[in-house]
Amino acid sequence: MADATSTLAGWSIVITGASRGIGAATALRVATLGATVIRVARSAMPLLTGAIDLRADLADPRERDAVLRQITDQHGTPDAVISNAGAFLIAPLAETSDALVREQLAINLEAPFAIARHFLPAMRSRGHGNHILVGSVADSRPFAGNAAYAASKYGVRGLHEVLCEEFRGTGVRCTLISPGPTDTAAWDPVDPDAHEGFTLRADMLRPGDVADAIVYALTVPRHMQIESLRVGPA
Ligand SMILES: NC(=O)c1ccc[n+]([C@@H]2O[C@H](COP(=O)([O-])OP(=O)(O)OC[C@H]3O[C@@H](n4cnc5c(N)ncnc54)[C@H](OP(=O)(O)O)[C@@H]3O)[C@@H](O)[C@H]2O)c1
Repeated sequence: MADATSTLAGWSIVITGASRGIGAATALRVATLGATVIRVARSAMPLLTGAIDLRADLADPRERDAVLRQITDQHGTPDAVISNAGAFLIAPLAETSDALVREQLAINLEAPFAIARHFLPAMRSRGHGNHILVGSVADSRPFAGNAAYAASKYGVRGLHEVLCEEFRGTGVRCTLISPGPTDTAAWDPVDPDAHEGFTLRADMLRPGDVADAIVYALTVPRHMQIESLRVGPA
């Protein structure tokens, strides 16, 4: 019988935004299942034996290109890429400056786009690979005060849906994971418990819940593709 702890043995998996929150939880889960994890973020990553940690600002095209080249040169084309790094902004339209829009688009949309362009053609040439984009409940549902974030995440969903068509039948599986409110540091500046209309932190998903959804998409049989998973509090 297969050992559950070795489900992902032999896999190499790149996870962006793995210094905390959903990315850190996902790195821990897939490492526990036997994968070699390559974690990318600007700040230090939590201790994880065997992980390969690379520090880069993925919103900066030069740093991003350099780290992507480093991954390919030193570790080859990974079995899976999880584009999770992101930033959350709640601001009314009138207070959303050009600079804030650019910041949101740079990390939430431009970075995953460039990462997909870097890895997916090589995955197709090899005949297999897994591409996971972390969207949001806000990639298909409008929330007031959320325009820049929504623009970036609706864009992520658009990117994902095109990739599904472009890579269908090539062995490259594409999945969009769209979490609802999840209790991470992304909510600290908002303080949802103090404001009406937000999900209480205690009622939110835990980062490990989203990690479980990602693991599910990675571990279904090879002939299956989980195109889209929306996960939220019950
Ligand atoms: N929390 C939620 O309710 C929720 C709901 C739906 C979707 N999501 C999505 O889930 C993903 C993870 O969010 P989270 O809640 O786990 O947020 P988080 O705890 O704030 O973590 C965000 C991660 O992204 C990394 N990151 C941000 N900007 C970066 C940059 N310029 N370059 C490299 N790494 C960068 C951060 O690392 P450094 O700061 O160390 O660089 C951190 O590891 C995001 O895409 C978010 O939009 C979250």
